[in-house]
Amino acid sequence: MEGLDPRFLPDGPWALIGDENVRVHWTRHGFPEPPGTLWVPTSETTKRLETIDPWLETWASLPLHRDATIVAVGGGVLTDMAGLAASLFLRGVKWHCWPTTLLAQVDAGLGGKTAVNLPSGKNLAGAFHPPERMIVCTEFLSTLSSRHRSAGAWELFKHALIEGDLDWAESLLAAGQPGPDDLRRSLLQKAGVVHRDLRETGERKLLNLGHTLGHALESASGFGLLHGEAVGLGTLAACLLAEEQGLPAFPADFLKRFAGRLKPLSRFLPDWPSCLPVLCRDKKAIGESKTSGGSAIHCVLPIPGQRAVLRSLPPEAWASAHARLSALLT
Ligand SMILES: NC(=O)c1ccc[n+]([C@@H]2O[C@H](COP(=O)([O-])OP(=O)(O)OC[C@H]3O[C@@H](n4cnc5c(N)ncnc54)[C@H](O)[C@@H]3O)[C@@H](O)[C@H]2O)c1
Repeated sequence: MEGLDPRFLPDGPWALIGDENVRVHWTRHGFPEPPGTLWVPTSETTKRLETIDPWLETWASLPLHRDATIVAVGGGVLTDMAGLAASLFLRGVKWHCWPTTLLAQVDAGLGGKTAVNLPSGKNLAGAFHPPERMIVCTEFLSTLSSRHRSAGAWELFKHALIEGDLDWAESLLAAGQPGPDDLRRSLLQKAGVVHRDLRETGERKLLNLGHTLGHALESASGFGLLHGEAVGLGTLAACLLAEEQGLPAFPADFLKRFAGRLKPLSRFLPDWPSCLPVLCRDKKAIGESKTSGGSAIHCVLPIPGQRAVLRSLPPEAWASAHARLSALLT
């Protein structure tokens, strides 16, 4: 974790792709904008393959060669798209990630998952292409909206529940915003998991806590819910589902405080019938369920005091957790 420092720029040829909302930080520090620099608007609805096509064309026309590095500066939408573009350009060039939102600093920028959305669902086209370097400058966060700060905090909170560390989770709920030590701890946790299981064949699946129902809520809300907000809601629902699956229950007063923080989002919560079709198309779907004979999805279930566990369940298993989530938020 560093300040904005030009020593972290690439040594060789490079191109810059950045979120237009953070250009002010870059230029205020007199950072270079090499030929072909692109400052672009970003949004979940334009996180599409069509958006990155002109970026590739710009880099080809410069021209950039295989020794080039793409420097990506922005939130998770920009870094997911830029990482994918770097993986496609000339069959893959290096990229550096300068995440500028809390969510991207704590999660999206680290781990090499890059993607765009398809009309059928979130992040359905992508590649594993880890950045050569990630530079976390908390200074960027000074201009981030409070809604996006709060949304990012849920991805960090998720890390506490993956570890089953209720004290850490409680302290995050009480503080509202994570401090630098929380950020460091969370990054170390994710870095360790990703180092051991880059391609998500085992342990890394645990990082999807909150994302199974979360992605469905985010998509079904028409992206009225921010990604981190949907993860917060999905994580609470996962606590409830875990209990229904016979795992140790979270203390009622903890769930109440957790739900209390999420209450302002109740107006965005899509109903169950709009979530189910999205859940059925989930990337984490694994084919036939042994119990129901229908499709099954990987579900990460948190346990107080212990590491979270993975279960394969039919999408319909989320119905009652969704109903209880709605009730807790009203
Ligand atoms: N690759 C992964 O492992 C991974 C993990 C988690 C989330 N994601 C993805 O991340 C995306 C969400 O990322 P996000 O929450 O960063 O949203 P975002 O990239 O949409 O950024 C949020 C908003 O803040 C603006 N912004 C960015 N930095 C700013 C700054 N410093 N000051 C002021 N405004 C700023 C952006 O322009 C945007 O309007 C989702 O698409 C999600 O799928 C990816």
